[in-house]
Amino acid sequence: MLKYVFAMDKLRSLDESLARINRDINALLDGVDKAVYDHEKTSFNFMGKAVRSRFTLLFGDALGLERGTAERISAAAELIHTASLLHDDCIDRAALRRGLPTLNESLGINTAILVGDMVVSFAFDYAVKITPDTPGSLVRAVRRMTEGALLEENLRYKNTSAAEAERILQLKTGELFRWCALTACHMAKKPELYEVCGTIGRETGVIFQITDDVLDFEGEAGQTGKDALKDITEGRTTLPLILALNDPRFAVEIKAELTSLKTDLSGNLAPALRIADLVKKNGFCAGARAIAAEKMRSLEKEIARLPERAAAGTFKNYIYALSSRTK
Ligand code: FPP
Ligand code: MG
Repeated sequence: MLKYVFAMDKLRSLDESLARINRDINALLDGVDKAVYDHEKTSFNFMGKAVRSRFTLLFGDALGLERGTAERISAAAELIHTASLLHDDCIDRAALRRGLPTLNESLGINTAILVGDMVVSFAFDYAVKITPDTPGSLVRAVRRMTEGALLEENLRYKNTSAAEAERILQLKTGELFRWCALTACHMAKKPELYEVCGTIGRETGVIFQITDDVLDFEGEAGQTGKDALKDITEGRTTLPLILALNDPRFAVEIKAELTSLKTDLSGNLAPALRIADLVKKNGFCAGARAIAAEKMRSLEKEIARLPERAAAGTFKNYIYALSSRTK
């Protein structure tokens, strides 16, 4: 019987697992008193591309972790991620998320913050279902994500070094992927792979976020489902811009455009468009993508340590696809 259950578990496709996670998240939202928050009245998408779930499910397969546990880890991570985006969109005054209006746009900033808080509590309810200790590690991951968001906030419109940017990426985005990987490692009972799993998680987050930051320059809103040029207009100095600012041929011009963006509160996008144009035309998006690709290549030795060889290959292909995505 046990053998049969294991075989059935292996047969569960990625799409089936994602559908189960989505169903569970919707069930949590359905359970909320409609007078408190009615998720069906707004068209906000609570799951998006499900990158953290895909990462966890494929990584879990490569560790030999059973799918039910990987699905619970994924659901907790998706909930934390969505909560962080609800808050991030308030901070960024963003209007578009996952191709739909942000909650701060449709229901106002107060509601968006509070729905974000509620979604955090859902995540911890989920984490308890993994093991009684899991909420403890999740709360520490959330604290480090918040530290990353605060560091980024402190550096708005300021000179940012590549080392500072790397630290922000590791905390803001890497920590949640790292939590998924370490929780999967713990549940798969592979303590000897703890360091390897932590590195894979953190670096996947960094690679994903570098590509996300490149798409802020390259992408159209219709393609990414988000407002274009948000990082530039909000004064966030991400890797493509750092590379451009480090080039003496462009530093003076970019700094002048950034000053006009900071001081002109009319919402004129022209300086941001000129900066984006300069960054793209002179190969700095390509430069940032090359750094992500190099990180991906150096991760191969860690991925090679994962015990399920065929599943590790599928996982590796997914991370490569993430690092070269265009939306
Ligand atoms: C998106 O970054 C935001 C994050 C990856 C994390 C933000 C973290 C917090 C707000 C603190 C944690 C809070 C909670 C409630 C768990 P981005 O702005 O670069 O990405 P975007 O382009 O998708 O907006
Ligand atoms: Mg944002």
